[in-house]
Amino acid sequence: MKLFVTGGAGFIGSNFVLYWLRQHPNDQIINFDKLTYAGNLANLTEVEHHDNYHFVKGDICSVSDVEKAMEGADIVVHFAAESHVDRSIMNPSDFVETNVAGTQVLLDVALKYRVKRFHHVSTDEVFGALSLDNSTKFNEATSYNPHSPYSASKAGSDHLVRAYADTYELPITITNCSNNFGPYQFPEKLIPLAITNLIEDKKVPVYGDGLYVRDWLYVEDHCRAIERVLQDGKIGETYCVGGLRPEHGDINNLDVAKKILSLLGKDESYLEYVKDRPGHDRRYAIDWSKIKNELGWEPQYDFDEWLTKTVEWYKSHEGWWRAIKNGSYKDYYDKQYSQR
Ligand code: NAD
Ligand code: TYD
Repeated sequence: MKLFVTGGAGFIGSNFVLYWLRQHPNDQIINFDKLTYAGNLANLTEVEHHDNYHFVKGDICSVSDVEKAMEGADIVVHFAAESHVDRSIMNPSDFVETNVAGTQVLLDVALKYRVKRFHHVSTDEVFGALSLDNSTKFNEATSYNPHSPYSASKAGSDHLVRAYADTYELPITITNCSNNFGPYQFPEKLIPLAITNLIEDKKVPVYGDGLYVRDWLYVEDHCRAIERVLQDGKIGETYCVGGLRPEHGDINNLDVAKKILSLLGKDESYLEYVKDRPGHDRRYAIDWSKIKNELGWEPQYDFDEWLTKTVEWYKSHEGWWRAIKNGSYKDYYDKQYSQR
């Protein structure tokens, strides 16, 4: 089988490529990635000489790039996106271009080549925000109500994917997952930012009151969920994927930050309350019972175990993240946090 993976040099995409070639070494993978600031081939050194792995540098917005690279693929797994909410607030146009227009190019080419499956990786952020007052969760029937340019652009891409299924009978599946964390996550997102800042003896910026709630999904659990959907998911269906078990209750950003402080032996003077994010969604929570009941998937370990593993990974891969933090990312960091 030949998989065409977009965005395979990013955080989740590279974890997926590594996972897939470990589990299915006879499958071929074309990793198609533009290598934006978030794409990093250093994530893929383990497979760069693998006979069945091929990297192609290209832009999902370019019909000719995509046509050249997708020919012969059986399955498309679409990760490529602009993915950071704060950057979408600074510059929404890249998000519309890549996430909406780029997805439409991929859908057209997938239709032309009659791929057997187009799997679209999306987010729970398309559903908007839940309240702290009750324990409601997002599920596959929740209406879309995105608030940031990022989530609005992902919502647009989800609608296009479903429209291609309904109008042209493209065989699609979609996963809407929660906040991922784990190895190779770019240190602009909360967990890797907090860990690497603390290792550098810097503070953790906490937006607003810190009482914002996210569901946390370990990236390897996410890769297994996509694998199950590719293997046995029903064509045309959407699956919500979350990492926290129902008995866990909510974990807010302050809880996350305090757990990381404790794993790294720091006290609460390392928390720095900064100006809030505009349009900040208060709470996300996921009901993942559909994928559990239909496909037998569930998260493997609990949040504390995965968080401990993640802190260990960043401690033992300082070269990987220091190269990012010392490079052009520094300009973004200074701009994002200087006025807060
Ligand atoms: P990321 O920002 O780490 O990586 C994105 C990758 O896409 C990079 O390698 C980048 O070079 C590539 N890319 C960007 N624009 C491109 C273009 N025009 N053409 C080709 N490649 C391009 O993102 P991530 O965190 O790995 O997220 C992957 C997917 O999962 C995204 O679609 C995102 O919306 C979704 N998602 C992420 C999370 C999360 O917590 N990270 C949660 C839910 C859903
Ligand atoms: P983030 O990792 O950016 O993911 P998302 O916005 O997609 O959920 O942020 C996770 C949560 O952490 C979110 O509520 C915003 C908050 N946050 C901070 O408090 N400080 C930070 O420096 C960052 C990057 C995020």
